Amino acid sequence: MDVLILGAGGREHALAAALAPSPRLGRLFVAPGNPGTAALGTGVALDPCDPAAVTGFARREGIDLVVVGPEAPLVAGVADALEAAGVPVFGPSRAAAALEGSKGFTKDLARDFGIPTAGYGRFDSAEAAKAQLAGVPYPTVIKADGLAAGKGVVIAADRGEAERTVDFMFGGGFGAAGASVVVEDFMEGEELSFFALCDGERALPFSSAQDHKRVGEGDTGPNTGGMGAISPAPVLDAPLQARIMAEIVEPTLRGMRERGAPFRGVLFAGLMLTADGPKLIEFNVRFGDPETQAMLARLDEDLLPLLEAVARGTLPERPVRLRPEVAVSVVMAARGYPDAPLKGTEIRGLAAASALPGVTLLHAGTRGEGGRVLADGGRVLTIVGRGADVAEARARAYAGVEAVDWPEGFCRRDIGLRAPR
Ligand code: AMP
Ligand code: GLY
Repeated sequence: MDVLILGAGGREHALAAALAPSPRLGRLFVAPGNPGTAALGTGVALDPCDPAAVTGFARREGIDLVVVGPEAPLVAGVADALEAAGVPVFGPSRAAAALEGSKGFTKDLARDFGIPTAGYGRFDSAEAAKAQLAGVPYPTVIKADGLAAGKGVVIAADRGEAERTVDFMFGGGFGAAGASVVVEDFMEGEELSFFALCDGERALPFSSAQDHKRVGEGDTGPNTGGMGAISPAPVLDAPLQARIMAEIVEPTLRGMRERGAPFRGVLFAGLMLTADGPKLIEFNVRFGDPETQAMLARLDEDLLPLLEAVARGTLPERPVRLRPEVAVSVVMAARGYPDAPLKGTEIRGLAAASALPGVTLLHAGTRGEGGRVLADGGRVLTIVGRGADVAEARARAYAGVEAVDWPEGFCRRDIGLRAPR
């Protein structure tokens, strides 16, 4: 099978590395890809968010499966265009991508299908939202409805901060994403990310992880795309997984079918483990970055048939095979990230890091220039360590970090360290 991956990050490098050894793989293309994926497949200079460009390439090359990494192409309707052209695609339609693209859509779905989540209101004007803010307990959570690059959620400590946030969002602070807002109750508990492969009808638990979103150690500083992850999520056990499938994943699939937008792809549920059980924080409609880098390190079967089964609606009814190991992914970011990452600095020691036992090095924001590798983004590398337990996985991941010679890069030293609260 010839496969095209869309995206350019560490997640896409991990997907390419997991697909590359498949005996079923023919040619592998990555659009646009990065220097890491270029070692595994052919880079293609096309805009992954341009449905006509992606579909044209897929038809010309006779691609058998398109694997969509990030959410933007899905929200832009790339999966719909591929499906219309008869090209199997791993990733949901634009209508089903509303699970990530509109927080209000997801809250209404949760209400209508009995999915446990925080109580909420949806508002289309600052005045209406502010009227609500007078009567809610604090802290309270304010969310821009649309995609806001991970910055659209504000936990407001008091009414003053909440009103300023509402004014900022309706004033265009997050562009069109803030034209509508959700105000919801603050939930307390441990967070975890749960991933299920879905083929429209069936859902198969894939794996779990815990992200570290803040840039600084001890969960301090601004939010980022994710500075590191541990898989499996330390708080997940078999009864909790069964509850998440029954109370959150299955009703979501049923709801999406009833809304005429069956969900095909990977459902990424951000969950809060509250005193009353797991509750939905939000959905993403794609693999997480850097969760995927950790999760795929534990996968003990060929990824390609699983992704193909999602695209074709033929998921098997058996558990995904995972090694009974822990994987820790540590993001190395360029100094200045997330506000103003320094670009163009040279990174050495990549081969030495990759050669360490139980270590995988994945590229994200890098570029090659005359045989050198330069930083070219915020999150630049992901180093994954695998081990029998958290301590071994961490030790390996950080041994990989030490082997990378990049004075202008940094990482959090506490990935996987925090014991569940
Ligand atoms: P998001 O950008 O949607 O991933 O949300 C960012 C973070 O905000 C989540 O990972 C949670 O830590 C936090 N969050 C979102 N909604 C709530 C809520 N209702 N209660 C408490 N924390 C929340
Ligand atoms: N690491 C969080 C995400 O991929 O959205």
